[in-house]
Amino acid sequence: MPNKLIIAIDGPAGSGKSTTAKILADRIGYLYIDTGAMYRAITFLAIRDNFVNNSVEIINKTKNCKIELAYENGLTRVFVDGEEVTEFIREKDVNDCVSEISKIEEVRSELVRKQKELGKNGGVVMEGRDIGTVVFPYADVKVFLTASIDERAVRRTKEYVQKGKNIPMEDVKHNLETRDKIDSSRIVSPLKIAEDAFIVDTTALTVDEQVNEILIQINKILELKND
Ligand code: DC
Repeated sequence: MPNKLIIAIDGPAGSGKSTTAKILADRIGYLYIDTGAMYRAITFLAIRDNFVNNSVEIINKTKNCKIELAYENGLTRVFVDGEEVTEFIREKDVNDCVSEISKIEEVRSELVRKQKELGKNGGVVMEGRDIGTVVFPYADVKVFLTASIDERAVRRTKEYVQKGKNIPMEDVKHNLETRDKIDSSRIVSPLKIAEDAFIVDTTALTVDEQVNEILIQINKILELKND
C-alpha cells in the first residue's frame, strides 16, 4: 500500500465507522483520525464549564484551544490543552448536545482547518461526517458507511452495556435518530454521500467483511491510478 493515500470514511452514528476505520488503518499501517472526538471534546468542555448555550464562548474556545488525538491500543485518547478528556466525551450528555454544537459554522471551520492539517501528508484513515465532501474533497478513497437504524441502535446499546451502562434501546435509537436528523439537515457541511463515494451497507456484514470490501475498493482505485 502506498503510504500517502487519504482515505475518508463518512456515515451516520453507529454505522460502523470507528471500528472499520481503526482496523483498516491498523492493517495498512496508516494513522487513524476520529474527527467526531474533536466535536465531542468541545461539547464536553462547553457542558462542564457552563457555556453550552453561549455560541460566542464555544467559538472562542474552539479557536483558542489545542486539541490532540493520540490513538493507542484501539482507543483514541483526546487531550484539550493538555487535559485528558477521553473518558468523558462519550457520555450521554455529550451525545445529547454534540450535534447542536457541530452546527456552528465557526466551530466547523476551525475544526476542519485542524483536520486538514492532521491529514495533509496522507497515510491517514479519517472518519467523520464531512471528510469526503468538505475536509478532503480530493481524498483518494471515499467510503460512505450506512446501516439500518435498528441495527445501529443494537450496536450502540451493546457498546453501552460493555461499559457497564444500561440505557434502554429505545432511548439510544431516539438519540441516533435525532442526531441523524440534525447532522443531515444542518446548513453547513451536512452529512451527505459524496458523489464519488463507495457505499457500504454494513447492516448484515461482519467487521471483517466491511474492512475487506473497503480494501478491495482501495486496490481497484490504486489499479486505476496506475493505469
Ligand atoms: O462520530 P461521532 O458519533 O463521534 O460524532 C459525534 C458528532 O460530531 C456527530 O453527531 C456530528 C459531529 N461530527 C461532525 O459534525 N462532523 C464530523 N466530521 C464528525 C462528527
